[in-house]
Amino acid sequence: MSWGMNNRLANLFNPQSGKTIFFAVDHGYFMGPTTGLKQLDKVINPLLPYMDALMLTRGALRQYVPTDMRVPIVLRVSGGTSILNKNLLHEGITVSMEDAIRLNAAAVAFSILVGAEFERDTLLGFTQVVNEAERYGIPVLAVTAVGKGLGKDARYLSLASRIAAELGARMVKTYYCDDFEHVVSSCPVPVVIAGGKKIPELDALTMARNAIQAGAVGVDMGRNIFQSENPVAMMQAVAAVVHKNVSVQEAFDLFNELKNH
Ligand code: R5P
Repeated sequence: MSWGMNNRLANLFNPQSGKTIFFAVDHGYFMGPTTGLKQLDKVINPLLPYMDALMLTRGALRQYVPTDMRVPIVLRVSGGTSILNKNLLHEGITVSMEDAIRLNAAAVAFSILVGAEFERDTLLGFTQVVNEAERYGIPVLAVTAVGKGLGKDARYLSLASRIAAELGARMVKTYYCDDFEHVVSSCPVPVVIAGGKKIPELDALTMARNAIQAGAVGVDMGRNIFQSENPVAMMQAVAAVVHKNVSVQEAFDLFNELKNH
């Protein structure tokens, strides 16, 4: 691996814990003005001290994030369909590597959909991004999804994650599931979990804790933080789970304590 690749990867992790929290606010590229993200800058700014990386789109980065911000950027470079399209996640390349470099991306993220009619398009688009990114020492995060009806279980998520790694992902993002150890242990690159739809804070903290216990290197969480009744408290509770290995109850107590202050 090149020095640049190693350095960019290292910068995505907390040096003390060796784990990471990517704060995902890229939802607008297919969901439009997502609940909790209408004023993106107001959401991001108070959370900056607690995240290891910020995952968002090119447009959001330009319009909402000050240029003196120090947090590494995971830049979303796939898209092309919206939630109104029945073929959601039939994504292609939306950002050139040249522009990703101009935006000082620490990593780029691309969604693949395994087990759908158009999986080939997304896998080939993904490898095109990997080829370009590798040339400049930029790690690619594969965002994995599986076709409708396949179930987000260890069998299919491990299949999608392993395919992503074999095709060149430096990191994989997938969903948490039962037997997550299998997903992590059969994937040769670090795995982070997506948060998914908003669930009660206690449940989201439990999921994060279970994922870390199963070997995930961190979380790439969005809605369960920015749609929380108190995003700053929730982010700190998630950070306690990921970086300090606290119990779910301790993290939940911390959430309540911070929320009530
Ligand atoms: C979806 O593909 C988007 O990239 C989100 O970044 C991702 O789903 C993580 O956000 P959430 O925790 O809200 O699922």
